[in-house]
Amino acid sequence: MGRVDWLLSKMTLQEKVGQLNLVTAGQVVTGPSGSGDVMANVRAGTVGGVFNIWGREPVAVLQRAAVEESRLGVPLFFGLDVLHGFKTIFPSPLAEAGAFDPLLWEETARAAAEEAASEGIDLTFAPMLDICRDSRWGRIVEGPGEDPLVGAKFAQAKIRGFQGAGLSSSVALAATAKHFCGGGAAQAGRDYAAIDMSDRELHETYLPPFAAAVAAGCAAVMPAFNSLAGIPLTAHGALVTGWLREKRGFDGVVVSDYTAIAELVEHGVAADEVEAAALALKAGVDMDMVSGCYLRLPEALSRGLVAEADIDAAARRVLALKEKLGLLDDPYLRLAPARAPRKTWSELALDAARRSIVLLMNRDALPLDANIRRLAVVGPLADARAEMLGPWSAAGDPAKAVTTLDALRATWTQGDVLHHRGVDIDGGDASGIGAARALCETADAIVLCLGESAGMSGEAASRAMPGLPGRQRELAEAALSAGPPVVLVLSSGRPLMIADLIERAAAVVASWQLGDRTGDAIADVLLGRFNPSGRLAVTWPRDVGQIPLHYAQRSTGRPPQSTDPFTSKYLDLPNDPLFHFGYGLSFASVSLKNLRATPEEFDDAPVRIEVEASNDGKVATEATIFLFLHDAVASVARPVMELKEWAKVALAPGEARTVSFLLDRSHFQFLDRTLEPVVEAGDFDVRVGLDADSRSALETRIRLRGPTLAADRPSDAITDVPG
Ligand code: GLC
Repeated sequence: MGRVDWLLSKMTLQEKVGQLNLVTAGQVVTGPSGSGDVMANVRAGTVGGVFNIWGREPVAVLQRAAVEESRLGVPLFFGLDVLHGFKTIFPSPLAEAGAFDPLLWEETARAAAEEAASEGIDLTFAPMLDICRDSRWGRIVEGPGEDPLVGAKFAQAKIRGFQGAGLSSSVALAATAKHFCGGGAAQAGRDYAAIDMSDRELHETYLPPFAAAVAAGCAAVMPAFNSLAGIPLTAHGALVTGWLREKRGFDGVVVSDYTAIAELVEHGVAADEVEAAALALKAGVDMDMVSGCYLRLPEALSRGLVAEADIDAAARRVLALKEKLGLLDDPYLRLAPARAPRKTWSELALDAARRSIVLLMNRDALPLDANIRRLAVVGPLADARAEMLGPWSAAGDPAKAVTTLDALRATWTQGDVLHHRGVDIDGGDASGIGAARALCETADAIVLCLGESAGMSGEAASRAMPGLPGRQRELAEAALSAGPPVVLVLSSGRPLMIADLIERAAAVVASWQLGDRTGDAIADVLLGRFNPSGRLAVTWPRDVGQIPLHYAQRSTGRPPQSTDPFTSKYLDLPNDPLFHFGYGLSFASVSLKNLRATPEEFDDAPVRIEVEASNDGKVATEATIFLFLHDAVASVARPVMELKEWAKVALAPGEARTVSFLLDRSHFQFLDRTLEPVVEAGDFDVRVGLDADSRSALETRIRLRGPTLAADRPSDAITDVPG
């Protein structure tokens, strides 16, 4: 008998149920309620894990109580939301996704894991893998953007980074793929709201990152708060047990979100918390985060709502996780005396920040002119340390964050840096605008730093009008009319709907929330020390009225035609976004030519696609080249474009290089009318471009001859699973 089963055989029912109870220690508040006397419950053996705590000493105190004072001495695991850094804070996931660099994604996760594990953390509630095409939703900042392929690669990179060489390593964190799934499509972009989508949309867009996470061996999965087509994910047996465990082979722990089990009563699918506990357990949820409902499973047992075997299965998975984490061998594995950090992560934070910045517009205003002598740095985000870290900044220290003002004052030595905050980030006080304008009028150029606070995105931070908060718009008007050229630096957790202001600026930089080294990275771009290479991982709408807006739309029978009123368009806005998915400028200019497919007609993959990329600029650059496919005719209407590969290529000034992609059968695969994977013969349009704007992409048509080919990936369809 293995150690896990031996332990289980010794446990009372209450002790088994205790392993399913995940409580918050409250060192940081991430939900609406607390967990009471954690120490007493640990000693009583009714706690399996503790989260929202860090630091070797406080963690050790709780671990010693579990190991030395509870009856069986089963160790706890300790969790925290380490999304984009622990003490060293890296760019927000949405920003970092824009680097389109899996190696970077992995490296920052590895750094975060080493830092967090050295402070007693065993598990992170990350990566967040919610695909999102609705920037009203505040949590768009936590995820990889709008595209399922980016989401899948992001999942694999982050899980490799967090879990490293293996969970039993003292510097590994167990990763939790969350939130399973579809929360990014909550109705009207409102957090926690119902999700209603087709099975096709679910399987084509929202599930792929979780399939990738399971394939990458993630240790845990967290269901979303929301209901999907009337079934709360926390009680969705067909998805959690049927698809995740049985179809994809996930064998880890499913941990509920914060009080989500108790919320099944609010959802209206459970009459009381005992029924809620039974529903969640039967659906396949192993741990109860904070709600305490699982402590009432003995009542559910006596009411015949669950079997003891259900409880045993969940407790077995929790104990197996602790064994994988090395905690059954050494409960203090991640509490050893602090090792010196393997290397300073600050340089990595700067590199990640630089590569996450997106240059959206530049009318020869950047790099800043060497003749400038008076630089006005204006706006509430110019010197706002805490906002640079963004939401979910774990043990990050705002005092460490470098602001744009800091960095310009420290490194721009050719003249005077003037500063005025102008207005607050939010609120109605506009009294500072006059002075700020007066200062702008005396300058040679203006760096205008506007945007959101860290709390205006992330959880419970949906915005119905995602423009500039407070009186920032008036400040922008004042700066734009003051005379000198305005470089607009946006700090936000989402695309901001300020198309009119963007179009009037001399240059616009999307800096998102870049973490500790924000200011250094921004200054490096403004002063030309770094050539921006970041791209948009999410479409940037002109207006909230266009949402949901993304590049992979399905066509319609009446595609928009400006000359034909009976086509799919608005009366008051164009259909196209302000900036397309994948968009981003640099100080060089890259052009693509000679797109070719070999062979152009084929009976089976592979097909080689080649294109020539050249740097027509005067500085070295790193281009990101995207390959999209459009299945021209299929048994199901296919999106007008689907990202299938991307490549990054470094180009010296004047250099031209051939970029090559190899398409295999899986690239041509889609889900047929029964949601089974299939490859159908026919024509495919290959579009290769620098972003998802099909008008500027190179295009060639290839033809798959012969019969429909068998797919080379297992079916994704949900099995019929009770519960
Ligand atoms: C929050 C979030 C979830 C997080 C958890 C623990 O409510 O929804 O993403 O991991 O609680 O902090």
